[in-house]
Amino acid sequence: MKILITGANGQLGRELSKQFNVGENQLLLTDVGDLNITDINEVQLYLNKNRPDLIINCAAHTNVDKCEADFDNAFKINAIGPKNLASAGFAIGAEIVHISTDYVFDGEGSTSLTEFDGTNPQTAYGKTKLCGEELVRNLNPKHYIIRTAWLYGDGNNFVKTMLNLSKTNNSVKVVNDQFGTPTSTAELAKVIVKLVKEKNYGLFHCTCKGQCSWYEFAKEIFRIKGIDIEVIPCSTEEYPRPAKRPKFSVLRNYMLEMTTGDITAEWKEALKEYLSNP
Ligand SMILES: NC(=O)c1ccc[n+]([C@@H]2O[C@H](COP(=O)([O-])OP(=O)(O)OC[C@H]3O[C@@H](n4cnc5c(N)ncnc54)[C@H](OP(=O)(O)O)[C@@H]3O)[C@@H](O)[C@H]2O)c1
Repeated sequence: MKILITGANGQLGRELSKQFNVGENQLLLTDVGDLNITDINEVQLYLNKNRPDLIINCAAHTNVDKCEADFDNAFKINAIGPKNLASAGFAIGAEIVHISTDYVFDGEGSTSLTEFDGTNPQTAYGKTKLCGEELVRNLNPKHYIIRTAWLYGDGNNFVKTMLNLSKTNNSVKVVNDQFGTPTSTAELAKVIVKLVKEKNYGLFHCTCKGQCSWYEFAKEIFRIKGIDIEVIPCSTEEYPRPAKRPKFSVLRNYMLEMTTGDITAEWKEALKEYLSNP
């Protein structure tokens, strides 16, 4: 299979580049310098020339605070980009994998969210990502739209931030009233490979199993690494950010459970695995 990965230098792009690099697969790895997904002409030219069977869109504007300051730019990358890939992909018969986020929900509930719960994004990031989902769904029926959360892998992420802070600090303050599920790119990519193999199209939630607060996440990182540092719990109010964070955005992988089976690991297991590969 010929596979185009956009945003291939990002965290998930790097992991998928590894996991899809098997057998007969031929990979086309691009990032913004090679293929700017916001430019419809560029996308059409690239797809007509290279004719992939599968497009995996890992490109996104993932800085939720910066999205708040520049909605139009976030919209171009998170909505117009996926639209271009979906429609130009449809024209050449390609399938599309598109990645979305827990930020499509308002995070005000207290039970885990399935694919059938109502969306209500509160931020520019969440709104533009939801538009991206809708455009992909409408423009290419052969879609896999996968919502994930609290992602870490090869790139900048919370785990790296905590480990870096521990080098120069004796204590860190971490928010203890926002709940979600840390998810490694390795676990997410494993599921994407399976969905594609089975041609199991549709909308899926995919996070690791279980839930925690950012404070509990930080404690577990330091426990696994044997780092002696004080982790001080704090409230969202004590740590104001430009973009509102969801209080509770634990996703339930309901469509995976109901179709192919949920093969994701518990979040602590996935974290241990990640931290054992420096
Ligand atoms: N990170 C999380 O916690 C998280 C949580 C839930 C969902 N997600 C979703 O998961 C997906 C993967 O996230 P990630 O953490 O792997 O993201 P990432 O590390 O930020 O990677 C995104 C990549 O897209 C590239 N890109 C930006 N604009 C582009 C454009 N116009 N054309 C082509 N490439 C462009 C970026 O390049 P530059 O770096 O040069 O801008 C970067 O290499 C995204 O859809 C994200 O919304 C992430």
